[in-house]
Amino acid sequence: MKTAVLGFGTVGAGIYEMLQRAEGLEAGPVYVRKGKADTPWKTDDFDQILADPSVEAVAEAMGGLDPAFSLAERTLASGKHFVTANKMLVAEYGVRLQEIAERSCAAFLFSAACGGGVPLLHNLALARQADEIVSVQGILNGTTNYMLDQMQSAPGGSYESALHKAQSLGYAEADPTADVSGLDALRKIRLAAAVAFGLLPTDGFSEGIENVTAEDIRFYQSRGLILRLIAKTARTEEGVSAYVEPVLFGKDAPEAAVRKNYNLASYEGRASGLISFQGQGAGRYPTASAVIRDLESIRCGARRMFPEGTANGSADSPGSCSRYFVRTEKAFAALFPGAERLAEENDCVRLKTAPFFAKTMHSLVQTIREEDGRVMFAALDPLAEPEDYLC
Ligand code: HSE
Repeated sequence: MKTAVLGFGTVGAGIYEMLQRAEGLEAGPVYVRKGKADTPWKTDDFDQILADPSVEAVAEAMGGLDPAFSLAERTLASGKHFVTANKMLVAEYGVRLQEIAERSCAAFLFSAACGGGVPLLHNLALARQADEIVSVQGILNGTTNYMLDQMQSAPGGSYESALHKAQSLGYAEADPTADVSGLDALRKIRLAAAVAFGLLPTDGFSEGIENVTAEDIRFYQSRGLILRLIAKTARTEEGVSAYVEPVLFGKDAPEAAVRKNYNLASYEGRASGLISFQGQGAGRYPTASAVIRDLESIRCGARRMFPEGTANGSADSPGSCSRYFVRTEKAFAALFPGAERLAEENDCVRLKTAPFFAKTMHSLVQTIREEDGRVMFAALDPLAEPEDYLC
């Protein structure tokens, strides 16, 4: 199956290279921006790719929405298969692209858009056919995991130097705000919600690691806790939840052992129980390998990752129930009735709250943040301090 590649950056170059070696696949032309076609196998004329009947599939690795969205629409409308590593594209326009793919009987697959080389979406799409998916969660951003790992393994390691290192290693997005704010992980968990539940959330809360300080890390470590940034989605009778928040784990939890830029993605099936995948969530070859896997799946007949009837909707369910560690100005402590006061430092207090639903906690923090921009919170994994939680 001859496949054109859109974009020749880190991931695009990896896809092109792997296509030369993949059995049953063939590298087609590489589409680059105007004036950048400096070899015969590169082109800046997309119409030429569309008009070439020998090109059966297009693999997109340009990132962003423009021109990726219009190229995706045109590819699928022409009946050629479309595979992408672009989470922003699928999170924003996935439902629309699926509709176009259905009309033209083309395939639309995107497993590289969530977890890089970690085969979460691929397996979720398969598992959903035989089992009811209850929840999906994990460490889905390599940059922030790398930063937290640095801050926790080098005592006193600062946020700024950890971010600088993650950028120099090429893990972060061009604008790392999407990584550190949790938005990148939120986009990925929105895709997982769509594949698992047939609802592509248009919203969802994300709290990143921007307010985490070296003192916070020291405090958590003194209590035997490890901080990770976790993306979660679940379906209950109340609906679907999708959010990203920092979570504190005990030292023996699998999440605590995920080092550097690695991802850990798990789903819980009603019948299968918990299934986990761990591996590199970013980088040239891990991400390209997921694109090649999608192309191979198309050769074997796969046409879609979204369940039939997938629609956009709101992720407005309350989410999990947890106790939270909160660091805020003393004036806001009264917003957490029943909280245990763990420490006081200057004008700040550290609290361990009563159990809250994630949604309640997120709205409380948004209110506090209007006046205390440094407020920091992290959910306490229920297994870190087992007890009955009544929200
Ligand atoms: N910036 C992303 C990450 C790249 O750090 O996980 C892969 O999506």
